Amino acid sequence: MALRVWVNGRPVGSLDRHGRGTTFAYDRGVDPRDAVSLTMPVRTASYDSAYDLLPVFDTNLPEGILRDTIQRTLAKAHGHADPLDILRLTGRNQIGRIRVLQEDEQPARQASIRNMAELLEKRATRAFVNEIVERYALRSGVSGAMPKVLVETDPHADADDSGHSRRTILTSDYILKFDAEDYPGLSLNEFYSLEAAREGGNVTADARLNADGRMLSVSRFDGTDGNRLGFEDLASLNAKTSAEKYSGSIETALFKHLAEFSGYRKKENLEALYRLCVTNIAIRNGDAHLKNFALLFDDADRGPFKFSPAYDLVTTTAWIRSDMMALTFQGTKRWPKPEAVLQLGARAGLSKPRARNVIAEVGAGLRTVMPAMLDAFEAHGRPAIGQAVANAWNEGLTMSLGVEAGTATKLRKPSAGGDAEEDRSPPEPSPFGT
Ligand SMILES: Nc1ncnc2c1ncn2[C@@H]1O[C@H](COP(=O)(O)OP(=O)(O)OP(=O)(O)O)[C@@H](O)[C@H]1O
Ligand SMILES: [Mg+2]
Repeated sequence: MALRVWVNGRPVGSLDRHGRGTTFAYDRGVDPRDAVSLTMPVRTASYDSAYDLLPVFDTNLPEGILRDTIQRTLAKAHGHADPLDILRLTGRNQIGRIRVLQEDEQPARQASIRNMAELLEKRATRAFVNEIVERYALRSGVSGAMPKVLVETDPHADADDSGHSRRTILTSDYILKFDAEDYPGLSLNEFYSLEAAREGGNVTADARLNADGRMLSVSRFDGTDGNRLGFEDLASLNAKTSAEKYSGSIETALFKHLAEFSGYRKKENLEALYRLCVTNIAIRNGDAHLKNFALLFDDADRGPFKFSPAYDLVTTTAWIRSDMMALTFQGTKRWPKPEAVLQLGARAGLSKPRARNVIAEVGAGLRTVMPAMLDAFEAHGRPAIGQAVANAWNEGLTMSLGVEAGTATKLRKPSAGGDAEEDRSPPEPSPFGT
C-alpha cells in the first residue's frame, strides 16, 4: 500500500514500490516551497528509482546494528523487510520536515521524556542504554552507525505548584548518542571535538555530556515540531544513498554540489564548508562522509539554503591509528599537507591570506580546548584515549595545517582499571515516565 508523504502539516505526495525500487509522485497543487528535496522540484511526472529508496527518503534510515535489529524484527513478523518497510516504521518521526505516514494517518508528536537535565544526571549503564534504545529506537528516524535515539522533552513536565505549565518553557528535541563498546570514550571525544570546532570559528550543534561522560545529548537544529526545517545531506544532494556515503571527492561531492544548491548563500556556505574541512583534517576525523554535511531550508524553491551547523565530529584516529579521510582530496584519502589545505581555500573563493586566517583560527581552537579535553578524559578514567586524541590533533596541526602544536600533557600511568570498559554499578531507578 502506498505511503503518504507530508511536509510539516501538509500532505504533498505518495510513495510506493516500483519494481525493485520506489516511485514518488507529488499531489496536485503542491506549493513549490514544499518540495521534498532540492533535487526533486514539484512537478506532475513521478520520480522513480530503479533500486531501493529515492535518496531523500533514505536520508534518515537507521544504519548499523539498529537497522539490523529493525530488519530482523520486521522480517520475523511480516516475512520480508526492505528499506521501504523500515521507513514505514521510522518515517513518522524523523530528522527534518518530511514525515512518511500511512494512508489514514496524521502527523503527531509524542513527548517522551520529562526533562533533559534529569536524564543527564544519570550514568549511562548498559541497562540504562538498553532501556532507552528499547523504548525509542523504533520511532527514531535518524541515520548513522552509532547507537542513538530521538527524544522530545515534555513541555508540561515543569508544571509549577498551581498545576499550570510554564508557557515560557519550549519543548526541545534531542538526539541521544551513546558510547559504543568498540570505541571507549566516544562521547567525550565527540563532545571535545565539537568544542574545539566551535572555538575554531565553526557554528556547531549544541551538545551536553551526561554524568559519566558516556552519553551525549545533542540539541536538534532542524527547528521545532510543526515548523521543522528542510534538512538535506550531501549524500542526498549527490543523489546517493547511505551505502555510498564514503564515495566521492571533497572537491566535487562537497564543494561543487554545495555551491550548486546554495543559491545566494553560496559564498557563506562555501566558507563554512572550508572551515569545517580544515577542522576535520586537523582533528583527524576519518568519518567526515557525505551524510555528515547538510543544508537547512524553509523554502525549497527560493531558500535561503543554509549550511548546517557542524555535527558528528570525532577524532577517529584515537582508536584507528591508520584511519584516513572519508572522501578523497586531490585524488587520495591520505591526510593532506599544508600546501594542499591552503589550496582547498580556492574552492571556497578564498584568497591565500584569508584561507591562512581560517587555518590559524582552527588551529588556535584546538590548542585552546586541548587542556580541558585531556582533563576530562582523565577525570572519566580514560587518560590514554585523551592522550591519543591530543596526539592526533597535534599531528593534524603540524603535519596538515602547518601550525604550532598544542600542549599535550605527558601520559600518566593509567590507574588500575583506567580506560577499561564496563560499569558494574547497580541499576538506578528509571528516569522515564510512561
Ligand atoms: N543536531 C542535529 N540536529 C538535527 N539533525 C542532526 C543533528 N546531528 C545529527 N543529525 C542528523 O542525524 C544523523 C546521525 O547523527 P550523527 O551523524 O551524529 O550519528 P553517527 O551515528 O555518529 O553517524 P555516523 O554513521 O556518521 O558515524 C546525521 O546524519 C544527521 O542527519
Ligand atoms: Mg554521522
